[in-house]
Amino acid sequence: MIVIRGATTIAQDEPQEIKSAVKELLDQIVSRNKITRDSIMSIVFSSTSDIHSYYPAKAAREAGFETSSLFSAQEPEIEGGLKLCIRAMLFVEQNITPHHVFLRGARALRKDLADKMNIAIDGPAGSGKSTIAKLLARDYNILYLDTGAMYRACALKALETGVDLEREEGFVDLMRELALDIVYEDGAQKTMLDGRDVSEEIRQPRVSMAASTVSKHACVRMKMVEKQREIAGKISCVIDGRDIGTVVLPDADFKFFLTASPDVRAKRRYDEMTAKGYEVDFNVLKEDILARDKQDSTRAIAPLRQADDAVLIDTSSMTIDEVLAEMKRRIQEKI
Ligand code: DC
Repeated sequence: MIVIRGATTIAQDEPQEIKSAVKELLDQIVSRNKITRDSIMSIVFSSTSDIHSYYPAKAAREAGFETSSLFSAQEPEIEGGLKLCIRAMLFVEQNITPHHVFLRGARALRKDLADKMNIAIDGPAGSGKSTIAKLLARDYNILYLDTGAMYRACALKALETGVDLEREEGFVDLMRELALDIVYEDGAQKTMLDGRDVSEEIRQPRVSMAASTVSKHACVRMKMVEKQREIAGKISCVIDGRDIGTVVLPDADFKFFLTASPDVRAKRRYDEMTAKGYEVDFNVLKEDILARDKQDSTRAIAPLRQADDAVLIDTSSMTIDEVLAEMKRRIQEKI
């Protein structure tokens, strides 16, 4: 006899939500452990005290788990505990290594057991993507992958070698020789080009526009997308860029598209650059951002575009905390 555990969350305390969440959880447990329903002797459910509208045991019975003995209990309220959560313990007459299943918000309970989760954030320059992505990654204790930095590193390499940024021909060899590594130090991404840390250098305004130009080329995108998928395929991460939800990870668990008015975006970049000691002119910066938007959203391959299933958030008049809270609410709602 083995015991398999599982948990999931619902968005609202409604019978239909509970029924479908219980069915999904039990079906996943059965399929991932390759067990038969008949081998489940009993299932014990416990749900958080904010769930009243339906018994998980009844939902299990209705989902076809008639041969097991079923029991539901309610947990006391725990401060700071996960909300709207249903836990299950299955006693199974089989001799296998149990594969515990944590779905939706319950993944946060057991990151070690949970499936990999990818949060895709796309949007134009200055929409707040990277600030928010870093904070989300910190709060969920997962990796942050800044894909813009990768295109910036390609652009820096091109600028240093003097290839014509507009002509793809020059990039075929450049991409073959490119030694680009993304490494992490104390949770922060470092972009390494030919063994050299270029994380700061790639933030220069001349590199921004060049990155937008080189990212038009198919051979550049192919190489970058392959690297991005390789990283995101192995580990949970928040990944930001222009084509993440549409091309890089069309099956990402969560997709967001952030926007803000050009003035707000230019002001954010202006503050960021001046804080770093760069001398920049607000109007020039705004023109650059608009030119970059145009180039990024009108290119033939993987243009900047909101995925059909991405949540759109206009951050123009929102604080960082507000955007973060809204995104977490959306994530919780979906999981
Ligand atoms: O996010 P960023 O400003 O660092 O990106 C620099 C440029 O790189 C951006 O103007 C377009 C390009 N880019 C891209 O084409 N696809 C991505 N996923 C990320 C960035």
